[in-house]
This record gives sequence, structure tokens and C-alpha cells, in this order.
Amino acid sequence: MPDPSGFDAVQPPTTRIVATVNGRRVTRTVPIHYRVIDFIREELKLTGNKEGCGAGECGTCSMFVDGTLIKSCLAPVQKIHGKTVETVDDLDADQGMTVIQRAFHKCGASQCGYCIPGMVMAATATLRKRPEASLDEIKEGLGGNICRCTGYQKILDAVAMARDVLNGTRPETDLEEAATDSFIGSRTRRLDAPAKVTGAIKYAADLWMPNMLHMQVLRSPHPHARIQRLDVSEARAMPGVECVLTCDDVPGIDNFGVFIEDQPIMARGVVRYVGEGVAAVVAETADIAREAVKRIRVTYDLLPGVFDPFEAMKEGAPQLHDFAPGNLCKHTRIRKGDVDAGLRAADLVVQETYRTSALEHAYLEPEAGLAYLEPDGCVTVMSPSQNITHHRHMLARILDRPINKVRMIMSTVGGGFGGKEDMLYQGMLALAAIRTRRPVRYVFTREESIAASAKRHPFSIDYTMGLTRGGLIVATRMIMVSDGGAYAMSTPGVMNKSAILGPGPYAIPNVWVDAIGVYTNNTPSGAFRAFGAFQSEFATESHLDLCAERLGMDPAQLRRLNLMQDGATTHTRQQLDRVAATACLDAALAAARWDPGVPHRQARGEPARIDLGGPGTRAPCTPGLGAMATDKETT
Ligand code: FES
Repeated sequence: MPDPSGFDAVQPPTTRIVATVNGRRVTRTVPIHYRVIDFIREELKLTGNKEGCGAGECGTCSMFVDGTLIKSCLAPVQKIHGKTVETVDDLDADQGMTVIQRAFHKCGASQCGYCIPGMVMAATATLRKRPEASLDEIKEGLGGNICRCTGYQKILDAVAMARDVLNGTRPETDLEEAATDSFIGSRTRRLDAPAKVTGAIKYAADLWMPNMLHMQVLRSPHPHARIQRLDVSEARAMPGVECVLTCDDVPGIDNFGVFIEDQPIMARGVVRYVGEGVAAVVAETADIAREAVKRIRVTYDLLPGVFDPFEAMKEGAPQLHDFAPGNLCKHTRIRKGDVDAGLRAADLVVQETYRTSALEHAYLEPEAGLAYLEPDGCVTVMSPSQNITHHRHMLARILDRPINKVRMIMSTVGGGFGGKEDMLYQGMLALAAIRTRRPVRYVFTREESIAASAKRHPFSIDYTMGLTRGGLIVATRMIMVSDGGAYAMSTPGVMNKSAILGPGPYAIPNVWVDAIGVYTNNTPSGAFRAFGAFQSEFATESHLDLCAERLGMDPAQLRRLNLMQDGATTHTRQQLDRVAATACLDAALAAARWDPGVPHRQARGEPARIDLGGPGTRAPCTPGLGAMATDKETT
């Protein structure tokens, strides 16, 4: 059926491009809507430069066109017709690595590596334009590039080092690794750094196999709805479409999850969040698959949604899962001593509520994967999964295959931060490869990644702490409620960890902790660096500052007074032998040149960051922060 827009995905209008790419003349006829990055990566299979955002923001796709650095995700392919293109793939002109790439290697300026090809290109542009570039000019030159995990300091160090070597003010031998008898106690360079600084390393979206198909997914526009009718016939009939998959195609047990098996690989009768996968199209090209997705007809019967965990726990709230009355996903309780008696005996009781928000991981590499069938019938999924053994076991159940017929290969992870720990799309990919008996690749757009993948758990933490006049903590009560979103994913583990680590490294005789994870119709919450400890410890440390202020006590001294010591028993009854918490705190205070009588930097209107490299400029001592609380006080 012709598309009303007039766009024919099967035979889209094409354009003929003649260009010189990395010194080689190429002539290709490609779809007219291609961008430069599509031409370079998909047509020429030069995958050194990556696509991170597709919107001109991150700089991973930066390449030279007639010597000018451009963001190739923004440029239509016609821009390079008759021009010369230079990508990171051949920046060294077959010499191994350029001086800039060697300096990145030397300085450890690559971690996940996904942003590094773009950084190297931006550094090259900067030093080509201004060989003597100052640090400020280098920062300006790299200003259009985002790094999410390496950190900018090592990158700036690398560019400055390369500048000095290129200018002859520093010997080239500085780029080499110092000889050492042992790796232990020595600075060593990452083994994968050369492949990362040259763009040679392959992430999932860089993978390609002969006869490969492409997958696209129809996602729910509604947070909560019953699927009344799902008609994929028009999409299935479209030329170039190999198959359209729905939950009906799943042969095994279609429920997965790290802790609670509550999630189907595609919505089964009900959608529970905006962005949930409903059907997957597998086609000869990504364009055809995208077009076919538009031809899937879904009739939704809208259901009331619930978007706040406190509302979700109320009687009469919409229920997300039959097995979870009150939308309760996980309730972790820790009880030690008698908190009520402790609070009654305290000289000072301080109460406050802390809230943290959902956070997007924003790894530079959007989710992607490639699945294929081995000749012996083993289905293989390559994806940047951070939990491949568990993924493999879940896939075996979903696909109803023996475990030795399922293989997971962890492709290079272009940033994960825990966000690639929970399984999401691997089931669809494996199913597609089995159904089509051809390799199938799926690459998320940035928008899709933000809409569909798990976020950091938002928390609301009701905190009550009782202390003696002298600053000893006698009781702590933390009641934490967290939005787990539509499926459990890592919520039970995050609740456990937030509860276990929440009260911090302090010896407290009476402890009460509730960590409650709740189902809502929001995007699922999942693993993210620190796995729940970040939220609860933020509350604890903020609360200690507040208590110190109420006591008129130095906040560091309040912590030192209460830190666990050798032989302590944690509030989860773990016996500790050696405890270095006080030594650790003292070392941190010394490094920060902490002065007990001086208001903290932000209170003085100074930036929170301290430059540890320079001499101290602390203000002279002033009296404590507040009046000593003499009476029991509740806030
Ligand atoms: Fe082009 Fe981000 S700037 S992919």
C-alpha cells in the first residue's frame, strides 16, 4: 500500500555521491535522506566515528570535510559530494597512531572509549588550527564534545602533551611507556586503549554480518492501557519485511527479571509505561523496518495510570500486577534495638525529608545488539549487557531452549553505569534471529534509549535522628519510598542495598529502616552506580550536616565521634574486624585542609570544588555554625 506521505521505504529516492574518503575515491548511490554519518558508517562500513546523540550535541561523530570539522550526524550526505572526507579510521594514514592518539593512550584518556574518536578529531582540528594552542583554546576546541566516564582532565592532559611533542618542547619519548619490572605499583596503560583512540574497537552498533537484517520496535505511547487489538498484517505484507514479532511468538516462559520475573519481552495484553515494546519488525533495511512499524495498527483501551509511589500504595489505586497487591514490589526492613526509646532519651531529635529524582544514565553508546544463529542451532546475542550470565539463563527460559543453545557475548560497553545490567531488548533480538535464521541487528536511537531504558530510582526519605547533647547518635529512623516504575528490574536489590548501607558507617544502637519499592506506570527504575546507596547515604550525610548545625558542632567532628571502630557490629549484624573509617576521614579532612571552625565553602559563597594542587587560601577561624541546642528539639 503506498504511503500517504509519498515516501517509499523499499525504493526510496536515491542520490549519487562521489567523494574522497580517507584518501580513496568512492562512488555510491544511497538513499537521499542519508546523513554523512550514514554514508560513512552504513555504506562504507567505516565505523571508527560513532553516533551518540544524532542531534549535534555529543561530538562522537565528528569528522573532517575538506579540512573542516563537522558533526556528521547533522549533515545531509549531499554535503560531501565532490569533497574530501577524513574519518578517525585512517587519521594516522596507516602509521599506527598519530601523536595525539599516542598521547591519549599515554595519559589514560579513554575509559569506555565511545566518545574518544570524536575527542581525537576535535583535538586534531584544534592543533591543526593553532599548533601553540593554550589550555583555554584546547578547552574551547573540545567544547562541542561530551565525555561521560573518562573525565575531561586526562583528555586535556593528553592534548597538551601532544601539542608539546608536536612543537618539539617535549621529547617524543614521553609518549612511550616507562620500562618496568612489574605492573604492580606502576602506572600501566590500558590494553584496549589503542583500539579505542583509533576507533578500531567494535561496539554493538558497529557490528555487521553478511545477509544481516534490521530490527525496529513499536513502542507504547500510553502509560497504562489494555491492548484490544494488535494488527500486524499490513506491516507483515510490506516488501522487504522478513517478519513481525509479538508476544504470541514467544515459545517459552515470557517473564523475566533479575529478582522478580514480571516482564514480558514485548507487552502481553497490557502496556504499563510509555516506551514499552509492543511489536518488533525485522526487515532488509532499517528504513523498511521503521516504515513497517508505522503500519502496525493497535487499538488501546486506556486504563487509569498511577505515577506517584505514595498514591500507588493507597487503597483503590490502579494495580499494575495481579501478584503485587498495593503495587508493592519490595519492602526491606531492618530493625535493631528500640528506636522509640532511643528517640525519647535523646537530647535533640531532628527530622527532615529528602528527595532524589530519577536520573537518565546518558551513556554515550545507545543500546544495540546483533543476534545470529550458529550452524549447530545455538542462538548468539552480542550486546553491551552488564550481566550476561543471567541474561543467558533468562533467554533460555524465554526461548525454551537448553542453556547450551543460547550464547551471550558482551560487546564493548560504551558506558553503562549499571543501566545495561537489566535485560531489555535481547529477547526480541534472539527471537528474531531464530525466526528468520539470519543475523539481526537492532540499534536504539537516543530518543528510544531515553524513553525505554531504566532510570535511577527516585527516593523520598523521611529521616528522624536522635542525638545526645555531646553529639552521639542514639537512634535513627529512615523510611524510604521509591518509585520502581512498571517492572521490578533491579528494584528489590536496590531496596536492599539502600537499606543496608543507608545509615552509613556509624555506630548507632537503635536503627529502624524501611525501604519500599513501589510499582507505578513510570519508566522502570533499575541499576545505576551505587545501586541505591547513593540515595540513602545522600540523606544520611545531609542529615548529619543538619544535626551538626543544630548542635553547633563541627560536622566532621560529629562524624568522627560516631564512626564505627574495630570490632563493631553493623546494624545488619555483620561483625567487622578492622575498621579504617576514622583514618579515612582524617586523611580526607587533611587533603581538603579542613578547618573545624570555618564555615564550609558553599556557606562562604565559594565554589565547592577544592584545587588540591595549590596552596590553601582558607579564611581565618570563626566560631561554630550555630547555637548549641540545650533543649530537646524537633524539626
Ligand atoms: Fe553527532 Fe552526537 S553530535 S552523534
